[in-house]
Amino acid sequence: MIRLFHISDLHFGLEDPAALTWFAECVRTEDPTAVLITGDLTMRARSHEFAAACEWIDALDVPVTVEVGNHDLPYFNPLARLFWPYERIRGIERLVERELDLAGVAVVPLKTTARAQWRLDWSKGWVTAAALTKTLAAIDALPCGTTTLVTAHHPLVEAGTRGRALTRGGERALTELARRGVAAVLTGHVHDAFDLMKDTTAGPIRMIGAGTLSQRIRSTPPSFNELVVDGTKIDVRVRNLAHVPTPDMQIDAVPPDALPPREPGEPVAPVGAVPPIDPPVH
Ligand SMILES: [Fe+2]
Ligand SMILES: [Fe+2]
Repeated sequence: MIRLFHISDLHFGLEDPAALTWFAECVRTEDPTAVLITGDLTMRARSHEFAAACEWIDALDVPVTVEVGNHDLPYFNPLARLFWPYERIRGIERLVERELDLAGVAVVPLKTTARAQWRLDWSKGWVTAAALTKTLAAIDALPCGTTTLVTAHHPLVEAGTRGRALTRGGERALTELARRGVAAVLTGHVHDAFDLMKDTTAGPIRMIGAGTLSQRIRSTPPSFNELVVDGTKIDVRVRNLAHVPTPDMQIDAVPPDALPPREPGEPVAPVGAVPPIDPPVH
């Protein structure tokens, strides 16, 4: 049995000190096998934000994996963004990541960020063909029977949360991961937790999202996911300082039509029936 703490979206620069202190104390007293971080370590990828994140992660003193989030790419320097977008985050990974030794369990990263995209909002996800090929090759190289967890920043398809990922190439990536029997895809970005099964043309696959440990909360208080992996069985508990029970912390998929039944001839979406759309959150 392996116990993993899955955290995301620390957003140093706008971190939540109480949440970070509480999480570090959980690690110190409970000694999980590893901590998996699914991106957005910083707010604006500034060097002092990375330094603070690095110091905090290092002090956890357990094996850690780090994925890159959209907030970890240079924000203020367009040249750095285009020519060496991953320099700082890769430097952090080299400093804090340690080899994981999880019996029968593998953690495989999938990059969902991009230095630029053919759309206005570059914070959204994009699984490029090269990124997917690299991840699939790593999965294919694993011994048969390995319980595989894929870690990425953006949910590959929407999970019903207020924040959205709109990941390009996500559906295809999810299908290929399902085809390979991946046990779960762990992500962040939307700042709310979820745990759901998605159907793909290659079969169902589990998607698990962690909330945030920053001040940038959406629908739920700061939290992290505790995963207990026992063979192919994965139990998820959403832990939070507010003591909200896990089922209430996990956002469910929004049904295709959540509006009350309509009378014949009634407009599909009467004025005022649709809640206002929030500004994007990342
Ligand atoms: Fe993000
Ligand atoms: Fe974020």
